[in-house]
Amino acid sequence: MVAGNSRRWSRDWAPFCGRLLRRLVRFLTNLLFIGDIFASPGRSLVARHLRDIVVAENIHLSIANAENAAGGFGITPTLADELFGYGLDVLTSGNHIWDKREIFDYFVRHPRLLRPANYADELPGCGVFVVEARNGVDCGILNLQGRTHMPATDCPFRKADGLLAALPADIKVRFVDFHAELTSEKMAMGWYLDGRVSAVIGTHTHIPTADTRILPNGTAYQTDVGMTGPYHSIIGVDKDIILQRFLTQMPVRMEAARHGAELHAVIVQVDEETGRATAIKRHTVT
Ligand code: FE2
Repeated sequence: MVAGNSRRWSRDWAPFCGRLLRRLVRFLTNLLFIGDIFASPGRSLVARHLRDIVVAENIHLSIANAENAAGGFGITPTLADELFGYGLDVLTSGNHIWDKREIFDYFVRHPRLLRPANYADELPGCGVFVVEARNGVDCGILNLQGRTHMPATDCPFRKADGLLAALPADIKVRFVDFHAELTSEKMAMGWYLDGRVSAVIGTHTHIPTADTRILPNGTAYQTDVGMTGPYHSIIGVDKDIILQRFLTQMPVRMEAARHGAELHAVIVQVDEETGRATAIKRHTVT
């Protein structure tokens, strides 16, 4: 075949062959989502285990909720840099994102750090980010927050509608961290978005739930992914301090616990042509 013909062939047929190949072979994107990284025990777990998990599970995109990275309360620019340095691609957050004021300017330079999208638009940061995974697939990451027993925010359900409508249609792989207190509110979000996103995974309550599943229209779901941090604690805080608070109702100074470190995560496999989840499993390091 002469050079001109060869170029014409690849121009005419390469896209067709690509589409045909994609029809015949399922191309899958593997997402890792690590639950709320709590204080130095949580950060150490990520430092020690993230790369091994990425290699062993063929992870294309690593996401983690990092709102408790700084001693349990917020995240600083230094700690965000540290977590990105370990290989995390996107950091999500929640109500504690405002605890450390020095993070406010960081959002401008680092859109990979998200805050819940349903806080007021004029606040620092953004709640959605499109990132290219290691396999070249563009993925939309959304961060939303519940309203029950949480700070007052805009409706997360209607906000999700708006964000999804604004995402380009060709971004099929869509992941949602729904940071909420109430199990029922999280389940409601899972059902509300079933078939419109690849995964809805809950954060904030720090206890992994045993309801890992794929909903009927292809959305992977777990009510809470659990904390990555010290489980010899009460949701990350020194247990004696919290016990004292329950027994006396007096204000106490919170301090992160140090022992019982465990990593809790989910791995979601997504068909990048349809955006439907094909598998979800919990991944734990104890
Ligand atoms: Fe939270």
